[in-house]
Amino acid sequence: MAIQIKNAEEIERMRVAGRLAGEVLDYVAKFVKPGVTTNKLDRICHEYMLHEQGTIPAPLFYAPPGYKPYPKSICTSVNHQVCHGVPGERVLKDGDILNIDITVIKDEFHGDSSRMFYVGSPSIQARRLCEITYECMWRGIRAVKPGGFLGDVGAAIQEYAEGHGFSVVREFCGHGIGRRFHEEPQVLHYGRAGTGVRLEPGMIFTIEPMINAGKAAIRELGDGWTIVTKDHSLSAQWEHTVLVTDSGHEVLTLSPGAPAEPPIR
Ligand code: MF3
Ligand code: CO
Ligand code: CO
Repeated sequence: MAIQIKNAEEIERMRVAGRLAGEVLDYVAKFVKPGVTTNKLDRICHEYMLHEQGTIPAPLFYAPPGYKPYPKSICTSVNHQVCHGVPGERVLKDGDILNIDITVIKDEFHGDSSRMFYVGSPSIQARRLCEITYECMWRGIRAVKPGGFLGDVGAAIQEYAEGHGFSVVREFCGHGIGRRFHEEPQVLHYGRAGTGVRLEPGMIFTIEPMINAGKAAIRELGDGWTIVTKDHSLSAQWEHTVLVTDSGHEVLTLSPGAPAEPPIR
């Protein structure tokens, strides 16, 4: 199916879903501390989505072709876990870095966002990876404008990540999003400027770079979902859902607790 151009009404519904995804991250932040299990974070988010927001957690029982149904309501990826970490009885400990990835459905539309969280006091190198990855996401976002190319997004991310000695995960990418969780186009986090899909107002997609401190290679765990770095190096990821506007872009998953955009340098 081709890339959909969302109309004004659809965009408004995507704004609502996007903000709600961000607000789940705002809410769960205070529960991230040494001693909590990832299952507990899953339950906290699940209850908040259903009973406070009236949203549906999109991951729960999500089963793209070739996957078994995802068993939880959020993804929690710790340390060398790259993405799609399945919540369980793991107890978070001081120094861990954690990605929480939230996708809500509200009024038929999806909002998808993830952030890194520090458990206690991670090492300087772990925090640096998280910060560089955050900057990567924003450099990708800033490349979004009508008449630009998806390759501009990937190139901006790759250049910044590799320029700091980190590597970009290739097997997973951002994605169009709307009534469906994963739509066209695929948004690669590497590539060449001026190549790929031409951006048009009304396109909505996620930018969600996964950046490794070591090599780019990954593998899947036996649970059929959790992705880890092959060399066990740390990995970080941030995600926003972004609209192409007539003049540039609008980030749909901002919320009151979202960290500020980094200064433009
Ligand atoms: N939220 C993830 C993304 O950004 C997808 C998670 S799929 C799940 O695309 F089933 F693991 F939840
Ligand atoms: Co996504
Ligand atoms: Co996500």
